Amino acid sequence: MRFLLTFTAATAFLSAAPAKPTYYADVEPIMMENCQGCHRAGEIGPMPFMTYDQVRPWAKAIKNSVSSRKMPPWFAEAGVGHFSNDRSLTAEQIATISSWVDAGSPAGDMKTRKPAKTWVEGWNIPKPDAVVGMTKPFPVPANSKIDYQYIVIPTGFTEDKWVNMVEARPTDRSVVHHAVIFIRDPKSKWLREAEPYVPFVPDRKGSARRIDVGGGGNEILHTYTPGNLPDVWKPNQAKLIPAGADLVMQMHYTSTKKDTEDLTKIGLVFAKQAPEQRIMTIIAGNETFVIPPGEANYKATGALGIPNDATLLNFFPHMHVRGKAFEYNLITGDKREPLLKVNKYDFNWQLNYHLAKPIELKQGMRIEITATFDNSPNNPYNPDPKAEVRWGEQSWEEMAYGFFDVAVDARHDRRSWIMRKPLAGKTE
Ligand code: HEC
Repeated sequence: MRFLLTFTAATAFLSAAPAKPTYYADVEPIMMENCQGCHRAGEIGPMPFMTYDQVRPWAKAIKNSVSSRKMPPWFAEAGVGHFSNDRSLTAEQIATISSWVDAGSPAGDMKTRKPAKTWVEGWNIPKPDAVVGMTKPFPVPANSKIDYQYIVIPTGFTEDKWVNMVEARPTDRSVVHHAVIFIRDPKSKWLREAEPYVPFVPDRKGSARRIDVGGGGNEILHTYTPGNLPDVWKPNQAKLIPAGADLVMQMHYTSTKKDTEDLTKIGLVFAKQAPEQRIMTIIAGNETFVIPPGEANYKATGALGIPNDATLLNFFPHMHVRGKAFEYNLITGDKREPLLKVNKYDFNWQLNYHLAKPIELKQGMRIEITATFDNSPNNPYNPDPKAEVRWGEQSWEEMAYGFFDVAVDARHDRRSWIMRKPLAGKTE
């Protein structure tokens, strides 16, 4: 065993970056796998990296951004959890790019080129069965503060629909900080005062405020944030949009220095078969924290007891500009297992971390989250270190939410899963 380990370490060392890397032989494959997902037309990367001519002028910036690990954006501590959407580069890949740039970024022989990766334009999911969403562009004026906009989208579905894949596509990604798409149950009274398709700002008084933001107990279909992938579940897994339900889009627009507008659409691919597992988005969080002025290392914790067995699929930590670090732990009896550690949280990159191997959760386990905030003047994003900061939807207020998706038996609804109701047709 020891021999084997030493041997593997030695080969890893020997197989380090190629001596004279060229674009076509060595660098382009990295661009395809780790960069083009964002750096191509229609996606969030500001410049395309699809051809040598497009990449060449950026060579120095590329070396800097990969050496500092600014690019590709990825914030999970290595060694804690394995994630299928981990785009980070290995030390060897960084060395390859660096020595290629230092050698004057040679193109190399086009004949050694690996087949180009094919990217579909428009949707990143297969052709949607239904496209719903905004019908009119929303104007986003330069340098302005914009309230969360809620847009009710009637689906017109007269039967239950199981959604196997979902993608939200803004037309101007530079101004969409996030879009949360809720499934409003036909019986829910939430935002009934809003006219369909017309962007709406709820009148926030007292406790109504929290309900507006949180979706009033309704299920989340999908959250779009820059850099995240569409939701694509396994063929036997889906989220349910019940007959007669509406979608509600919560749009958080952040203006830039330019006047612009956005029209976000949602593509849905329905399950081809009745799913065995239902996907639900769950939250462990804390809404009662009070961050003292100037405090550089304030920790808010929250926990959720798992009421029923479930399969844990992914994590989506959410804080605002004072967010500094975030972690998820799994508590089983007195055992504590770290699931995800984000040591350098970045408000501009709200990433979703998909477990490479889903984790089986048993009833009685707990998911615990710790959100760390920096309210000191040393935090360059801090709008006011003298403020005492509490829960709130605006960026100068804070949130400490650890979202995660679970797959449960398809016969459960949210309530029955949480209330531990026995399932019909199954003896437990
Ligand atoms: C998840 C999407 C995403 C991925 C993946 C990604 N980028 Fe970027 N990249 C962006 C965005 C958005 C910006 C502009 C905002 C910023 O600089 O943070 C950017 C900016 C850059 C810049 C300009 C940085 C600067 O300092 O001006 C470089 C260079 C770059 N990316 C290189 C890369 C390389 C090389 C890869 C792959 C190894 C990569 N990016 C992967 C989204 C991405």
